[in-house]
Amino acid sequence: AAPPDVAARLLAWYDAHHRDLPWRVPPAELKRGVRPDPYHVWLSEIMLQQTTVEAVKPYFRDFLAKWPDVQALAAAPAEDVMRAWAGLGYYSRARNLKACANLVATLPDGFPDTEDGLRALPGIGAYTAAAIAAIAFGRPAAVVDGNVERVTARLFDIRTPLPEAKPEIRERVAELVPADRPGDFAQAMMDLGATICTPKRPRCMLCPLRADCRAILSGDPELLPLKAPK
Ligand code: ADE
Repeated sequence: AAPPDVAARLLAWYDAHHRDLPWRVPPAELKRGVRPDPYHVWLSEIMLQQTTVEAVKPYFRDFLAKWPDVQALAAAPAEDVMRAWAGLGYYSRARNLKACANLVATLPDGFPDTEDGLRALPGIGAYTAAAIAAIAFGRPAAVVDGNVERVTARLFDIRTPLPEAKPEIRERVAELVPADRPGDFAQAMMDLGATICTPKRPRCMLCPLRADCRAILSGDPELLPLKAPK
């Protein structure tokens, strides 16, 4: 099916079945014009880099209670931030988080609203820049994490192994991104990968994209993505 139809089917599913997560603005509120807070989006994406959604939830709430905006986080002693981070692991993330907050607090317009601008900040790589640009600022960025790689490899029956397939996957995702709802699209792909298009025993019967999925037609979606031997 054409990309607009695939995105429309995925977004209709997301409208009905999205996960309620503390850093998310639900699709109905976005439609009413509520804008996500870039600070919330940034904080959640940094925490989610190497940590599961369930583990991040209490830390995200605790950080917001202690430091409700980027100015507050910038004003906090670094050791307080490190202590609040304790248990999340990968402590370079916390050091970069603090450095990033200190820098952004000096910018008159706050967080940059483009992928390139975001990528120039401490702790923000290609993935995180794309996620913040799409979710916080509505930029049509291709947000590709492990979940999205799996969904996309199956949807297009991409048999090239990872990591070689990454450029092709990125291109395919970029073609699917709808200009009007890039943030919802990114999070819908993540939710589909987390709840339906799972690594083992994907629940294809429940998938909103089963009519579009080339891996269903040509074989066994569970076998994708292929991975190059280490
Ligand atoms: N993993 C990384 N970013 C996420 C998000 N915004 N929602 C759910 N899982 C995620």
